[in-house]
Amino acid sequence: MVLDAIRTRRNTRDFTNDPVSDSALELMIEAATWAPNHRNTQPWRFITLSKNGAMRAKVAQIVHNWTFENVKNPNNERRISSSIEAQQEILDAPAFMYVYSVQGRNDEITQENYAATACAVQNLMLAAHSLGIGVGWSTGKPCLANVGTAIGAEPDWDIVGALYIGYSAATQTTQPEATRNPINEVTIWHVGAQK
Ligand SMILES: Cc1cc2nc3c(=O)[nH]c(=O)nc-3n(C[C@H](O)[C@H](O)[C@H](O)COP(=O)(O)O)c2cc1C
Repeated sequence: MVLDAIRTRRNTRDFTNDPVSDSALELMIEAATWAPNHRNTQPWRFITLSKNGAMRAKVAQIVHNWTFENVKNPNNERRISSSIEAQQEILDAPAFMYVYSVQGRNDEITQENYAATACAVQNLMLAAHSLGIGVGWSTGKPCLANVGTAIGAEPDWDIVGALYIGYSAATQTTQPEATRNPINEVTIWHVGAQK
């Protein structure tokens, strides 16, 4: 069952209009917090922005402005439309969340914390998948726009991603094909008896 969930989860931002309840989000965040983490630092932080809320609108506007300033498309119409698209996608997502990782007292712990928080995101996505909810993990515009202090993140938190969340519109047959390389291409096997 876990293997099935791992294999069939897909990154998606193709959602139905169905709302995602706070209790579903709570369940997903709770699952996230069961991720492995060294020294019990529990370094993950989640910031949710409810649909139609003032903070969601504020973030969407910041991302719009960032996109307009930074995505230097020579075609001005394209530049305007991609800024509006980025803004609208944030406004439309049934649920939208930022995930951050707190820094440790040294680089080693900060790196461990980041790894643990990435595990937490995977837990969150698998829990969502088990509820029929899809997640689109982005480190693109919503993160690059640097909304941290506006949404209440501490300045020294590391951003791990923005998550677009909603009930998946894709069915088993319409969802994008996913592939992975054979494990022998990514594994070194040391075999043989000890001499
Ligand atoms: C750290 C991280 C950052 C990602 N950032 C983006 C992103 O900015 N935009 C995007 O479309 N997908 C992003 N993704 C999703 C990946 O593109 C996606 O996981 C990959 O295409 C494999 O698809 P699958 O997750 O459905 O197997 C990100 C994934 C990870 C782990």
